[in-house]
Amino acid sequence: MTFRQATHDEPTVFEHGRFWKDAEALKDLVDRIGDGIPDALLRKDLDLPSMTEGEVVRHFVKLSQMNHGVDTGFYPLGSCTMKYNPKVSERLAGLPGFTSLHPDQTDEEVQGALELMHRLEEQLCIIGGVDAVSLQPAAGAHGEFLGMLVARAYHESIGEGPEMDGTGRHEVIVPDTAHGTNPASAAMAGYDVVEIRSNEDGTVDLDALQAALGPSTAAFMLTNPNTLGIFEPDVERIAAMVHEAGALLYYDGANLNAIMGKTTPGAMGFDIVHFNLHKTFGTPHGGGGPGSGPVGVTSKLERFLPVPRIVKKDGLFRRDWDCPESVGKIHSYLGNFGILLRAHVYIELFGNDLEKVSEMAVLNSNYLAARLKEAYPMPFKELRKHEFVLSGSRLKECGARTIDLAKHLADEGFHPPTVYFPLIVDEAIMIEPTETESLETLDAFAETMIRFAGDDECKTMKDTPKMTSVQRVDEVKAAKEMVLTWDLRKDADNE
Ligand SMILES: Cc1ncc(COP(=O)(O)O)c(C=O)c1O
Repeated sequence: MTFRQATHDEPTVFEHGRFWKDAEALKDLVDRIGDGIPDALLRKDLDLPSMTEGEVVRHFVKLSQMNHGVDTGFYPLGSCTMKYNPKVSERLAGLPGFTSLHPDQTDEEVQGALELMHRLEEQLCIIGGVDAVSLQPAAGAHGEFLGMLVARAYHESIGEGPEMDGTGRHEVIVPDTAHGTNPASAAMAGYDVVEIRSNEDGTVDLDALQAALGPSTAAFMLTNPNTLGIFEPDVERIAAMVHEAGALLYYDGANLNAIMGKTTPGAMGFDIVHFNLHKTFGTPHGGGGPGSGPVGVTSKLERFLPVPRIVKKDGLFRRDWDCPESVGKIHSYLGNFGILLRAHVYIELFGNDLEKVSEMAVLNSNYLAARLKEAYPMPFKELRKHEFVLSGSRLKECGARTIDLAKHLADEGFHPPTVYFPLIVDEAIMIEPTETESLETLDAFAETMIRFAGDDECKTMKDTPKMTSVQRVDEVKAAKEMVLTWDLRKDADNE
């Protein structure tokens, strides 16, 4: 069956041409609300579009039809874990008891919400093998940043914090397979980043790590399985080396989907862990959010977690601000409640069977890897966890590259895998099928990928995609000139 994405010549809501200025009802309302507000504080014009409900619904449905999502097709975006999100989570998150809450209500009035968050913290402690969790961070990267602040506060508390004269623990080590947010978060927290090379198996090179560790090291950031999908076999040795040097071991939890119920970051020796709830626990994840990146720590670091902490006192759940050594606040209120709620539902749905999620994710990944490795070289070790990385280098023989393969996949109704990451694989194609896909979907994807590797199809890839609503865009321009709002667009048009 040929795939063809819907295409609508849909203007933005601003270009529909009617603004609230023309809408008398809204104008009256604004006039009434305006009563008593000083004139200087009242905006006289507001470019708010005026459309009927039907027009708004049609507008957004059309936009959604021109998009690819987990609800419309396979989404094997490695590292990003784009799994199907159960609709029951959405229904529960939409219950009026949740949607009508306001975070400024008193503790007594929001006992249910506080209890839910407290329970989620306890569940994450078990899943992560940690002693305490903060739900505040809004994404994995935000969790990394908090983790680095906690590491810094800990070293400062024992007189080993980074000093202006270059002494103290001012370095954070990352492997060359690390996600870009790891070094970025460490740098944002004021650390110098030291990158170490991987060994020929694609895992941490212990000699390189030993050489980098020292009295300047604050932390080593690692994800396990790593971004090649390979479980670090020396993780316990790594933890011992890092701790011997007086540093902390940080777990990037983006790949937790591979190990749930089998082991925990805590059992591997990690001190600080972030969870990507929007990956592991099935929350919609795309377009930059909203997400949630809770951070878990071992007991010696608990006192540095953000305020307020959720505690149970005298039978009531409370927000506790009395934490003098806390790094402070890193999100308004307690975090992205809607995402926390969905994650809690996901965990409750599986209960003690959460390990099946990881088993299926790993099985699906190895099945696809086994089907594809003849057609595309798979550098480093063969056995993978929940994701694997192929190389598109052979496509060059017919004049194509990985980027062309990615675009061509969109023509067949598949979201492209992550490409050109991790950096240590030439023409990287990083595939993560997740646990929620059927054998039929995996086979359809594998057959398409194998066909694309053949000479005939490979030669045609340069001109793709053709069946999508948007064809090739200038990605460099899009990244450099981010025109993401109507105001910016107007400015750009006027230049
Ligand atoms: C390995 C890894 N670490 C960290 C992150 C950052 O997570 P987030 O996108 O939630 O900020 C990602 C994101 O995809 C990732 O794949």
